[in-house]
Amino acid sequence: MATRVLLLLLNLALLPVVGAAEPDYPRARPLTDRTFEATPGRAERGHYLTEHLLQCFVCHSERDWNAPGAPPIASRKGAGTVMSERAGRRIVAPNITPDVATGAGGWTDDMLARAIREGIGHDGRALYWGMWYRSFAGLADEDLAAVVVYLRTLPPVRNALPPTVLPADEQAANARNPKPITAPVTGPATDDTKALGRYLLGVADCAGCHTAWEAPRNPGLFGGGNEVGRGSRKAFSANLTRHESGVAYPREAFISVMHTGKGGSLHPIMPWTAFSGLTDDDLGAMYDALGDAYPVAHYVGNTGEPRHCDVCGQEHPFGEHNHLVLPTSVPVGEAMLQRLPGTYRSAELDWTIEVRLEAGKLYARENGAAAEIELIALSETRYFGSGLLAPIEFRLPAAGTATSLVSLELETIPLDRVR
Ligand code: HEC
Ligand code: HEC
Repeated sequence: MATRVLLLLLNLALLPVVGAAEPDYPRARPLTDRTFEATPGRAERGHYLTEHLLQCFVCHSERDWNAPGAPPIASRKGAGTVMSERAGRRIVAPNITPDVATGAGGWTDDMLARAIREGIGHDGRALYWGMWYRSFAGLADEDLAAVVVYLRTLPPVRNALPPTVLPADEQAANARNPKPITAPVTGPATDDTKALGRYLLGVADCAGCHTAWEAPRNPGLFGGGNEVGRGSRKAFSANLTRHESGVAYPREAFISVMHTGKGGSLHPIMPWTAFSGLTDDDLGAMYDALGDAYPVAHYVGNTGEPRHCDVCGQEHPFGEHNHLVLPTSVPVGEAMLQRLPGTYRSAELDWTIEVRLEAGKLYARENGAAAEIELIALSETRYFGSGLLAPIEFRLPAAGTATSLVSLELETIPLDRVR
């Protein structure tokens, strides 16, 4: 779910800003006076989440770029840093240590909780989306409490920083993203490894980096090729799907790659120094859940010359090895095809797919985009659309037209028929 939320909000951020007759942005709920009791269990769990899974200090600290993986500098842990700066635009990860004058020492527990999951700063401002609150929104209530409890145990560091500055139009678009959370958020079922894996992948924002959201053609969820930057440093993310060009190696090898950063060889944009502390059980669960992503043929590297890539439309190392091969369509009878066209929508995700039939072929249009996508039948009801995040499947009653379609991501995302 978190991956979806991320895509949606990226789209939202690109919408033109309309001034009049808009609800007030950012949408923020009032602060409460809740506090999270500091138990040893929470401090320990919070340490694990904050330092490893959620990579808080990879952003909220200065890093040692000379060490393998560029780990956060221990004495600056949580003290914040200017992440990037150019004319009219400055991204600052604030000081979140308990220092009262320059950090979070004077903020309440709910100020922290609201910032982490709902994207509203202690002072009520909409946080820049580069703070991953949209993925952290999936954090279970107890995990959120653990993170806040752990942050309070950090040594306070005095470090005054300037504020984040965005151009006005970008800030207005950014302010539309935060969404209050008012219902309980529960974690995955404890006996379901794949559900645990999806939870961990979601809150760690793996798909945010490992999906080429902004490429001319999106190769698919976890298909790699996203160009990720930090200051002046950049790298293309790897394909994590179960294809020989991605992560087709065994579970044990994946666990070792995550523990060691492939023997220290992975680019420091991949936060492997944080992930190295994850347990084998959690890493194995992630591997199992990744097995449900549609396999994408997409070689991506970060050494050697950038070359044009047919699969994502960008120039990146290994691009020359990629050739766009679409699946072959299976035959589908006209009677079935006629049951599928319609307009399908998820109100929650503000995501619409219109499906049309012409001369025996189905075409899909996402959110009123100019271009249509031809749907290629993988089965009578399951279709591949080039550039869609994942294959889609129509849900049909015994007779009559389809009532919904689902996007086959790591979990199925439903869009109901509205027309
Ligand atoms: C990918 C980088 C990144 C990661 C990872 C990240 N943050 Fe942030 N965080 C930011 C940025 C950038 C801002 C400031 C945004 C702004 O000022 O608009 C921010 C803002 C915040 C704020 C709001 C501070 C205020 O002024 O009220 C808190 C609290 C916070 N982060 C805590 C965390 C915690 C806890 C984690 C881990 C669970 C985390 N962040 C992970 C980049 C990050
Ligand atoms: C901030 C962006 C970012 C995040 C977050 C991120 N990655 Fe990566 N990852 C990268 C980049 C970039 C590379 C490519 C590094 C290279 O080529 O040296 C990479 C490489 C990898 C590789 C190595 C693949 C191979 O065999 O070469 C694995 C495995 C991986 N990431 C898994 C994950 C998982 C699992 C998560 C979430 C827990 C995750 N990554 C989160 C950016 C990211």
